[in-house]
Amino acid sequence: MEIKKDEFLMFANFIRINFGINLTEKKTTFIISRLGSTIEKHGFNNFSDYFKYIVDDKSGEAIIEFINKITTNHTYFYREEKHFEFFQSDVLPYIMEVEKHAKDIRIWSAGCSSGEEPYTLTMLLNELLGYELTTWDSKILATDLSNYVLLKGKSGIYPFDSLKYLPSSWGKKYFKDIGESNVVIDNKIKNNVIFRRFNLMEPFPFRKKFHLILCRNVMIYFNEETKNELIEKFHDFLEPGGYLFIGHSETIDRNKSRFNYIRPAIYRKG
Ligand SMILES: C[S@@+](CC[C@H](N)C(=O)[O-])C[C@H]1O[C@@H](n2cnc3c(N)ncnc32)[C@H](O)[C@@H]1O
Repeated sequence: MEIKKDEFLMFANFIRINFGINLTEKKTTFIISRLGSTIEKHGFNNFSDYFKYIVDDKSGEAIIEFINKITTNHTYFYREEKHFEFFQSDVLPYIMEVEKHAKDIRIWSAGCSSGEEPYTLTMLLNELLGYELTTWDSKILATDLSNYVLLKGKSGIYPFDSLKYLPSSWGKKYFKDIGESNVVIDNKIKNNVIFRRFNLMEPFPFRKKFHLILCRNVMIYFNEETKNELIEKFHDFLEPGGYLFIGHSETIDRNKSRFNYIRPAIYRKG
């Protein structure tokens, strides 16, 4: 299937304005490879008719399917382990100190994909605090644009192979074999993560500020302006001394941000 130049621009604008994702570099092949089969499945002959269908659809189904196709959801357990080392050495001690009375750990995994990131943190919290964790409110908020990955995260079911990134003892401790080469995560870990659909382009609805926000490998798909605006919103929604983790291939322009640079991919609100 082919896409005309004006059709490509129509999709690229729609995606950038609504979801922040910037497609100018990926050009037409990206759209064709991600959407071609969906367009054929629905019986449309061109991209313009499909566009009209997603914009006019009142059920919400068309846009959900569209988002599932255009987002890139690659993730895995214990990704970028330096963040987890820093969480243990610096972030958790900071939270323990400032929350020693209220005992409320507030972490947001923004762009959590299928849940490996918030589940890794929950398992780590369990390792570090053990029984004491039960005396804390440690629920992690995990949000994403795509319903498809959120459903996967909520199910807690992963291929057995995905455990290879975790410390070997964690496999037995936190997962149960459910056959067909799949495992399911322990209920105690699963119940500590709250999955919600949230588009980072929308106003933040949170009442309380966070101690840690992870937005890793999400803003690489945004343009500079969108990224800078989002970073400032993260700053507004962190507690004083709170941390922001971004992906290790990403950077924040120190001249345009109020964050203090701590080390690669780690920033702190002063
Ligand atoms: C590559 S994954 C990163 C997952 C995880 N943070 C990690 O580093 O492994 C990027 C995720 O960002 C989500 N995403 C992209 N644009 C978004 C937006 N506007 N609002 C919320 N999530 C978005 C995608 O759906 C995708 O699941």
